[in-house]
Amino acid sequence: MRCWLLPALACALAQPGAAHAADAPPGASSCSGCHAASKTVETAVPRLVGRKPVEIVMAMREFKSGARPATVMGRIAKGFNDPETDAIAAWFGAQSD
Ligand code: HEC
Repeated sequence: MRCWLLPALACALAQPGAAHAADAPPGASSCSGCHAASKTVETAVPRLVGRKPVEIVMAMREFKSGARPATVMGRIAKGFNDPETDAIAAWFGAQSD
């Protein structure tokens, strides 16, 4: 578990054994603190696993620019540059459960 992003929050919310955390690109494992990795967990935050990478990338760009309303994602999206966001989106798109 890499905890460099929002350390206290990400680590406090992180679920042990989140899917394939070992081969995730930097930052991706921090997302699963809020975006559940498992479909057996009911959360208000939409899941990212199995989503089309382009949808994740577009949402992150819009959060970053402020075009898309957000509570926390605007701040989180600003922490990643485009190649990092692309890598995270591609990784989530390739996951399944
Ligand atoms: C602190 C909790 C938290 C963390 C950590 C987090 N998110 Fe989010 N995410 C949210 C919330 C809450 C929303 C709903 C929009 C809002 O209120 O900001 C959201 C929305 C999204 C959406 C839009 C989903 C949709 O269908 O509308 C995407 C894509 C997304 N997050 C990607 C990510 C990625 C990628 C990461 C890791 C880099 C991440 N999030 C980390 C809480 C979090």
